[in-house]
Amino acid sequence: MASLTGRRVLVVGRAGGIARAVTLALRAAGAQVVVAGRDEPALAAAYDDPDVEAETVDLTDEPSVAALAGRLGRVDHVVSTASARARGPVGELGHDVVLKSFDVKVLGPLLLAKHFAPHLPADGSFLFFSGSSARKPAAGMLAVGATNAAVDALTRGLAVELAPIRVNAVSPGTVDTGAYDGLGERKKAELFAAREATSPARRVGRADEIAEAVVFALGNTFLTGVSLAVDGGEPLV
Ligand SMILES: NC(=O)c1ccc[n+]([C@@H]2O[C@H](COP(=O)([O-])OP(=O)(O)OC[C@H]3O[C@@H](n4cnc5c(N)ncnc54)[C@H](OP(=O)(O)O)[C@@H]3O)[C@@H](O)[C@H]2O)c1
Repeated sequence: MASLTGRRVLVVGRAGGIARAVTLALRAAGAQVVVAGRDEPALAAAYDDPDVEAETVDLTDEPSVAALAGRLGRVDHVVSTASARARGPVGELGHDVVLKSFDVKVLGPLLLAKHFAPHLPADGSFLFFSGSSARKPAAGMLAVGATNAAVDALTRGLAVELAPIRVNAVSPGTVDTGAYDGLGERKKAELFAAREATSPARRVGRADEIAEAVVFALGNTFLTGVSLAVDGGEPLV
C-alpha cells in the first residue's frame, strides 16, 4: 500500500454520512483533506482540525467544478460521495428527478475527472460512489440502479482513458447514514429489518466500513477500473 501521509485528498459530499467517515479515516491515515460541497459552512463546522479545509462546489455546475480545481491546484486523490437519489417505481419517476440523479452522480464525477486530472500526479486516483442496486434490481430502485450502473461504466472507461491515474469506485450496500430517513420511520425500520433477516452479513453496514474500502482503494497502486462491493452480500440473495 502506498502511504497516504501528507497526500492531499479532495472529498466531495455532505458534512455527515459516508463523506464524514471517509474524511476521518483519511485523516487517521495521515492525509490532508479538503472537504467540498454545496454547504461550505456546515462542512467547516463539522471538523475541528487544521488539516481539514472546507470548500464550495456544486457538481451540477461545470464552472463551479473548474473553479474549485483552479483554486486547489495540486491534489493527489479525488473522492466523490455526492448523490441525489431518484427512488420510486417507473410509473412515478419524473424526467427531472432522474436527470438530477445522473447529473450529480455520473456527470459530476465526469466533470471532476475532466478538471482535476490535469492537476493529479501519475500515482493519483479518483474514487467514485456506486451502489449495490446496480447489481441487484429491486422494485422502486430502477433509476438508482441505472445511475449506479452508469457510475460503474464511467469508472472503467476513465481508468482506461486517464491511465496511469487510477480510477475506482466503492459500491456499498445498505448503510445507515441518515440517507433512508426520508422514507419515514416505519418504512426505514421495515427495510433495515428485511436486510437483517436476509443479507448474508445479517445487518446493515456502517459508514466506517465503507471508509476503510476508500482508504484501501486510494492506497493500492495495482487497483484500477474496479467497483469494490462492500455490501454485506446483499445482491447475492
Ligand atoms: N447510504 C447507503 O446505504 C448507500 C447505499 C449505496 C450507495 N450509497 C452511496 O454512497 C454515497 C454516500 O452516501 P451517504 O448516504 O453518506 O450520502 P447521501 O445521503 O447520498 O448524500 C449525498 C450528498 O451529496 C451532496 N450533493 C447532492 N448534490 C450535490 C451537488 N450537486 N454537488 C455537490 N454535492 C451534492 C448532498 O450534500 P448537501 O445536501 O450537503 O449538499 C447530499 O447530502 C452516495 O453516493 C450514495 O449514493 C449509499
